[in-house]
This record gives sequence, C-alpha cells and structure tokens, in this order.
Amino acid sequence: MDKIFIFDTTLRDGEQSPGASMNMQEKFRLAQQFVKMNVDVIEAGFPVASRGDFECVKNIADNVRGIQVAGLARCHERDIDTAWEALKNGENPRIHVFLATSEIHMIHKLKMSREQVLELAVASVRHAAQYTSNVEFSAEDASRSELDFVCEVFEAVIRAGAVTLNFPDTTGYAMPEEFGAKIRYLMKHIPSIDRATVSVHCHNDLGLATANSLAAVQAGARQVECTINGIGERAGNTAMEEIVMALRTRADLLDVATEVVTEQISVTSRMVSTITGMQVQPNKAIVGANAFAHESGIHQDGILKERTTYEIMNPCDIGLNQNNLVLGKHSGRHALHEKIKAMGYTVNDEQLSRVLERFKAVADVKKEMFDEDLEAILMDEVLRVPVSYELLSLGAMSGSKTLPTSAVLMRVNGKEARGCALGVGPIDATFRAIAQLTGTSSKLLYFAVSSITGGTDAQGEVMVRIEDNGTVVLGKGADPDIVTAAAKAYLNGLNRLQYLKNSK
Ligand code: KIV
Ligand code: ZN
Repeated sequence: MDKIFIFDTTLRDGEQSPGASMNMQEKFRLAQQFVKMNVDVIEAGFPVASRGDFECVKNIADNVRGIQVAGLARCHERDIDTAWEALKNGENPRIHVFLATSEIHMIHKLKMSREQVLELAVASVRHAAQYTSNVEFSAEDASRSELDFVCEVFEAVIRAGAVTLNFPDTTGYAMPEEFGAKIRYLMKHIPSIDRATVSVHCHNDLGLATANSLAAVQAGARQVECTINGIGERAGNTAMEEIVMALRTRADLLDVATEVVTEQISVTSRMVSTITGMQVQPNKAIVGANAFAHESGIHQDGILKERTTYEIMNPCDIGLNQNNLVLGKHSGRHALHEKIKAMGYTVNDEQLSRVLERFKAVADVKKEMFDEDLEAILMDEVLRVPVSYELLSLGAMSGSKTLPTSAVLMRVNGKEARGCALGVGPIDATFRAIAQLTGTSSKLLYFAVSSITGGTDAQGEVMVRIEDNGTVVLGKGADPDIVTAAAKAYLNGLNRLQYLKNSK
C-alpha cells in the first residue's frame, strides 16, 4: 500500500477560523498531541504574520520532536527568511511558500503577469532551498487556474528545489471528479513529477473538501492537508478525522494508508474544540456526539445482534471508550494518574495534585464521573495561564421576585477582595461584581452554557468570548453550579487577557 502523508494545518489555516485564535501554550499542547497521533507534518503558523506567530512556530520547532514542522511564507524574501529563523532548530523543518496562479488572483490581487508569477515562484523556492531541502510550493487557487500554467510553474519549481507541490482548492469550488481529473493531468504532464510529492489542500465551501481530497488521492496525490474537526478559513478545510477514517475504512478500494494513530482522534478533536471554543456539530462525521449513537429501535436491535449491521467503523478505533465511567471520589492519586495517561494527557506532579483536588470536589457532589468530567478539569489545569484573578467563593441570589444579586470573594493579584453587585440576572450580577473587583472593562461578545454529561447533577460548562482593546480571548469554566461555572469562565478569559498583556 502507498503511504498518504498527513499534513495538519490546524495551527495555521485552522486558526484562521473566525474567533479560533490559540495562544502559545495551547498550540504547543496541540503540537505534542499531533506527535502522539503520528501525523507526518504540522504547519505551526505563518511566522512573518506577527511576533506572536513567530514565537509559536519557533517554540514548537525548538522543542517538539518526532514530526516535521512547517512554516508558511509568501513569495517574499523577508517571509522566507523569517520562516527559516523560526524553523531552523526543528527536526527536518519545512518551508512552505505559496503564490497564486489563477487569472483572478494574478490580475486583481497580485497585479502580476504569468511571466512575473513564474519568475517569482522559482526565485522564492530557490531562496528557500538555500536553507533546507524540505521545500513545499503551493499554487494558491490552483483549482481555478489554467492547468497548463500550473504544470509549467510546478515543473519550474521542482527544478528550483521544491519537493512537495501543493494544489489547493482555495475557494472550495471544485467537484470531486473534476478535481481528480486535474490531479491526473498534473501527474501526466509535469516531466519531473516523480521527483516530488503531490499534495492537495481543499476548502469546504460546498461541503466537498473530503470528497475532493479522496478523488485526488485516487488520482495520485500522496499528501493531504487537513485540520482537526475541519476548522479553517470560512467553511473550513478537509477534516483530518474524515480523510484518515475514510482511507482506513475503505482500504479495500483505495489501496493506500496513513500512519495516523486513529485511536487518538477522539481526544484530539475534543482538545481542539475546547481550545478554540468551536464546538463540533452533533452529527459531524466521525467525531460528532451522535456519530456512533443509534436512535431507532430497528438499528438498536441490529447493533445488539451484530455491531456491523449499522456500524462501518468501530468506535474504539477512534478512541471512543464505550464504558467511560471513570473513578469515584474514593479513587487515589495513582489510579487517577493512570486514567489521565490512558486518556492521552501528560501532567506534572503539581498539576496532578490540583486535578485530584478538583476531581474529588466535583465527585463529592456528582453521582457519576465520566471521562468528559475529568477532561474538563484536565484542560483547565493543563492549559492553565498564570492566574492574576482567582475566585474564592461566591453567593448569588435570584428568583422570580428577587432582585438578582451576587457577592463575590476573590483574590486579585494576590490580595483578597470582596464586593457585590446587582444585575438583570445572577450571572450578569456576578460579572458586574468581578469587573468592579478586577478593575477591568472587557466586552462580553459571546456566552454559552452547556452540560458536560447528562442528568440534573451534570457539570455546567460555560464558554465566554470577551474583548478588550481589540484582543479577543476565550474563557471556559466548569462547575456543577452554573453561576460559579460562568464566573470561572469569565475569570479564565480575564486571566488570558492579562497573560497576553503581560507577554506583550
Ligand atoms: O487555501 C489555500 O490556498 C492556502 C494556501 C496558503 C495553501 O491555505
Ligand atoms: Zn487554505
């Protein structure tokens, strides 16, 4: 079987989803998770875009091993030099240069002729190849480009040193049969094609990103660019979980395979949605909450008799633990640590102590603890930013005939502070009290509450998006009491804002 290389761009194109920005610690955590998944390449960012992007790429290239780290660059020398500066300590680092080849982009965006585009692409690949032999070239908007021109550019950049040629469907315009035919054409009409790997990068504007990527694989592409949960610019990119599981499930038809550890899919999906705040739709293929749920009686009956009657994949293959009832309040440190490791997380001693303390506090009030309960605590602790504001206790009053009031006791930069406020509801009152005590004036853009598991004793999970002076952050908090969960989410957001301010 031929190997299909998986190039994950969750940290770059995925981060281009509106509101999905990730901080350095979160990107690093995900990069480590991609190593666990045995992904081949991760695109860690666009180093010239900002100081923050540069630092994130550098941090990952400097410290993450067992994976190729790529950085994006336009066809500008400064972009390429900056990308290399960020990547140079990585293991087999890849410079990914791109330039548009469609008439629409060349005329309206680049204002360049074909000759100029060809010349610039070659000069840029040659410049990147001075630093590394691992150079990828992307013909942006390739699917809407004149195919013979793409062939000409690809042949020229191979000669200049590119070893991966990416053919993006930048606008998600292509249809599967048409896209596959284009890849077949490239394979036939580029004389030096056997010196390079053909890659595809599909967007999902028509919901066809996975279908187009599969058609390309059938036509000879050997690298697929994708993101977890399909996040990305506009309607997103090809979802990694879909492409990997389609190739695995239909290996009989496709005769190719990835080396991704599929059992890590579920935990990675949850990690990405927790970090970005982009929740997965319940009916999403592979990772949606309903992807393995059987509602109709006929289906349930079939499944009980023989699982494969209605299941084409085994949920265990994506790491879904069917019996995911975890430990109880009497569980000890060792058992909890083993469970955490089995769930794919790495915690140090200090983090383990904090997780244990919080786990016991929740287990005290909740009858049953599930993986999701533990995961909510873990994400909070593992991705914890330095805490400037900490909730010590809160009491909120509300009711149909009560003026909603909240009294908050907290620690602000190490000092205890207390205050109370009125609001239109208990959460509004709590947020007002917190804003007064922290002296902050952020704007609440988004507020959502959901329950982590079923039952009235479930933990409430609150997600907020807040903005201060143009900086938008996500805050999350979980607690069996939803007003407390909301306060935690708000403070988590304020701590992130403070962390960003301090690190600037
Ligand atoms: O969609 C696209 O064309 C891209 C390129 C930079 C590869 O993201
Ligand atoms: Zn893209």
